[in-house]
Amino acid sequence: MPLKTLTVVGARPEFVQTAPLAREIAAREGITGALIHTGQHYDYEMSELFFSQLKLPEPQYHLGVGSGSHGVQTGAMLAELDRVYLAEQPDIVITHGDTNSTLAAALSAAKLGITVAHVEAGLRSWNRAMPEELNRVVTDHLADLLFCPGEAAAANLRGEGITAGVHIVGDLMQDSLRWTMNTVDAQATLDKHGLRPGEYFFATIHRAENTDDRNRLESIMHGLERVARDYPVVLPAHPRTRPRIRDLGIPAGIRLIEPVGHAEAMALVQHAAAVLTDSGGLQKEVYWLETPCVTLRTETEWVETVEVGWNRLAAADPAAIEIAVKVALTDRPPHPDLYGDGHTARYIVDRLLAYHPGDEPTQEEPW
Ligand code: UD1
Repeated sequence: MPLKTLTVVGARPEFVQTAPLAREIAAREGITGALIHTGQHYDYEMSELFFSQLKLPEPQYHLGVGSGSHGVQTGAMLAELDRVYLAEQPDIVITHGDTNSTLAAALSAAKLGITVAHVEAGLRSWNRAMPEELNRVVTDHLADLLFCPGEAAAANLRGEGITAGVHIVGDLMQDSLRWTMNTVDAQATLDKHGLRPGEYFFATIHRAENTDDRNRLESIMHGLERVARDYPVVLPAHPRTRPRIRDLGIPAGIRLIEPVGHAEAMALVQHAAAVLTDSGGLQKEVYWLETPCVTLRTETEWVETVEVGWNRLAAADPAAIEIAVKVALTDRPPHPDLYGDGHTARYIVDRLLAYHPGDEPTQEEPW
């Protein structure tokens, strides 16, 4: 019997991560896969657009959970996932990243005695005020197989006593980025928005810590306003962020646009003078596309991008944002490979097929 996997997704970054893995599973002997969509993200631009651009297979189950408080959302997912897992009896449940869907996928499976594989394991911001930090810590402690993007993440797990089942495999987002870049017509995207390469900034803000605190959001907008004196700032707004920014008033030079799909976002990142973001996943994509990044947070899980000098932490301080962008525009440090070689999906499937409970960890980098 082939190994039966079910992968749970619900939010944008998970769609991007799972696309290359779904393709790899479909292409390999001895393993089957299907998707369960929790429905955490449900707007067309937040979900369907990603499924069609990334050529993701239709989910076998759509749980339709939607938005709500964390407890309500996660609880509804748990109830639905119990039902699906019991009906489907998968050998392994695969869960990505750090969202509420990630946590629910792992918790329900672990309680039913199903093997849990966590992709993007071992990341830490060390900030327990972030819901994502709680989600990833708990998920790592429930998982049997832990796929880390690099050695720093594996070291974090060792620090928490987790060594069994840990594998360094790189980052699926790099596989996905390579695939997407082959489909992108960057010039058409720039033309659509009336932009010239290297003469605009690309910004995203969606994290609760930034959007739910009016003063903090206002402070970030002041920072963007300063930056926009040089070049326009293109800001695709998450549905949570859009009304809050509108409430504050949109400063001159900032161009609020609808949320964009992966292909359009990557084209805009590739040709931006710099990217300003509070997203986790985007920081890596910006790095791989060799665009300087300014992160609108006080800490990052992607510490390597900061260490090599391509990412700067500016939090929500307007002066710090302005200075970080100015320095980023002139500084071009060496650009070492980070987080694997773009073949992470293959390494993950190799290890899924070879998995036996109680195996020793294999932490050497496969590339
Ligand atoms: C979630 C993840 C975050 C990830 C992000 C990517 C958690 C705790 N957070 O954050 O780690 O970086 O996805 O985008 O899981 N909304 C809509 N339409 C949608 C989706 C959301 O209008 O399709 C609005 C709702 O008002 C909702 C709010 O956005 O309450 C927040 O959505 P939610 O999924 O809870 O968190 P994200 O901020 O998207």
